[in-house]
Amino acid sequence: MNINQIKLVIPQPWRPFLGAIRRWVRSMPPRPRLQKQRLLSDPSLTETERALLSKVSGKIYFNDTMYDGDGAHYYKVGLSAIRCIDAGLAQAKLTNVRTILDLPCGSGRVLRFLAQQFPEAEITACEIQTGPVQFCVRTFGARPAYSSVKLDEVDLAKKFDLIWCGSLATHLNERDIVALVRLFARHLAPGGLAVFTTHGDFAAQRVARREFEYSIPEDQTGRIVDEFKRTGYGFADYAGQKNWGVSLTSPEWIRARVRELGDLREVYFEEHGWDDHQDVFGFVLE
Ligand SMILES: C[S@@+](CC[C@H](N)C(=O)[O-])C[C@H]1O[C@@H](n2cnc3c(N)ncnc32)[C@H](O)[C@@H]1O
Repeated sequence: MNINQIKLVIPQPWRPFLGAIRRWVRSMPPRPRLQKQRLLSDPSLTETERALLSKVSGKIYFNDTMYDGDGAHYYKVGLSAIRCIDAGLAQAKLTNVRTILDLPCGSGRVLRFLAQQFPEAEITACEIQTGPVQFCVRTFGARPAYSSVKLDEVDLAKKFDLIWCGSLATHLNERDIVALVRLFARHLAPGGLAVFTTHGDFAAQRVARREFEYSIPEDQTGRIVDEFKRTGYGFADYAGQKNWGVSLTSPEWIRARVRELGDLREVYFEEHGWDDHQDVFGFVLE
């Protein structure tokens, strides 16, 4: 019986719990650990990546929505983030990273790698969801911090040398992307680096070809791709949600928004650099 057949025999009110139960079963310890062991012998990894991966925790949060059962991909996304962060730090000529903010940390897909790559740094795990933050605190020794849907109201009372923001701008509308950039500027130490990801041309092409599951309501797909082509920005809410969906943003559109805020200087950009999918920007606070 496959998952669609199971859905048919489960009463409608219980179906939302089905996903959580599947994630819980999939994340049970032997499986992700075995997947990590297998990836360690993958010849496509560099020796540096292999050494880093060997130190990284193989524990997966029971409700980690980023872990779909494909452990090799899950860990490769973390390795890819570290490669982008290292490239950004090199461009920024930033060698002393003492404080790191991972926003949104999710359930530590990248944070587990940050903890090993920067063992001396104090890492803050920040999210809107409590369970994933607490998992990062318990499992990777991070400091907890809580965000808000009102990003302009987030005040972590701390400045960071490095902010990693993987796949948040990709889900926000224009107003909230601008608020997110303001949050970076408020929370960077002078000379500090924010590395964040967006859906650029590469993702827009995949949306247009319906090649990847972005969960955009079917009737919105054409509109956001057209708007992106015309203006460099397109956004659609997920079905039943408000101000949370999928954004498409061209590099020029992002640069124009950041320029309006002043103070942040671009030092790094890589088209579909994160996981061969999302564009990656690095901005330094002057
Ligand atoms: C696509 S996931 C990425 C998580 C993590 N960066 C990773 O790569 O595994 C997006 C995350 O953003 C979180 N989120 C949504 N709105 C947020 C906000 N306003 N502030 C902080 N986190 C938020 C969600 O709870 C979700 O875990």
